[in-house]
Amino acid sequence: MYTQLQQRESDRPPVTLTTLSQMRAAGEKIACLTAYDASFAALIDAAGVDVVLAGDSLGMVIQGHDTTVPVTMDQMVYHSKAVSRGLRRAMLMADLPFMSFATPEVALTNSVRLMQEGGARMVKLESGGAQLEIVEFLARHDIAVCAHLGLKPQSVHKTGGFRVQGRDDEAAKHMLAQARSLESAGADMLLLECIPASLGKAITEGTHVPVIGIGAGPDTDGQILVLYDILDITTGRKPRFVRNFMNGAGDNASAIARYVDAVKSRAYPAPEHCF
Ligand code: KIV
Repeated sequence: MYTQLQQRESDRPPVTLTTLSQMRAAGEKIACLTAYDASFAALIDAAGVDVVLAGDSLGMVIQGHDTTVPVTMDQMVYHSKAVSRGLRRAMLMADLPFMSFATPEVALTNSVRLMQEGGARMVKLESGGAQLEIVEFLARHDIAVCAHLGLKPQSVHKTGGFRVQGRDDEAAKHMLAQARSLESAGADMLLLECIPASLGKAITEGTHVPVIGIGAGPDTDGQILVLYDILDITTGRKPRFVRNFMNGAGDNASAIARYVDAVKSRAYPAPEHCF
């Protein structure tokens, strides 16, 4: 009974939704990072990252695609499973990839796969008004859900590219309203990508669940970055919010530890990383 809690190191109890809510309430920043395999997951866990995302960004950084659209459910399950084997304390969240949540029933079937086969404890889906019913349906089935707002990489072919979202007043109001509706529908966490810092602050203050940002300013409850960006493995032009944590670090483990420290101490993100 409750072996999941017993088998882990007792001085590092596993992170749960309760832990994240307590961190939000206490003002302790939540450090999150992506991972795609067991070896990096183990390094990340040891460095004290709170939430690890088996992200569909694997389509770009692992598979070499231009977008996350080609990533399939089977691939997400495969990588999630590998990441879960490397984790002890951190909470594993896994992405529902493109079109894997087109209806509530399909979303439920695929969330169950991510949890039962992939070892995830929370699923993340790129969300807006059209996903309210899906979030509500998953929540009703006791699935922990993170709603991803702002820049939604799975929609870039429709929205016209990787661009900062919510820049004008109307778009900002609309996103704040959507965040509140998703919270009311049962979202346990919100993730905001590439939005003005002022909107990141407004959504964090205007909702009650933990809010994680990537390019959403310093006021969200936590930060997430793509592992290969902080380790300076990705090539080409980097988004403004990326910081290279290998600078001055001797190895991967120290770079990841520096990232955790920068998030917890609020040194990251600095003004130059914000919109
Ligand atoms: O897949 C991913 O890496 C993500 C991050 C951009 C948060 O969703």
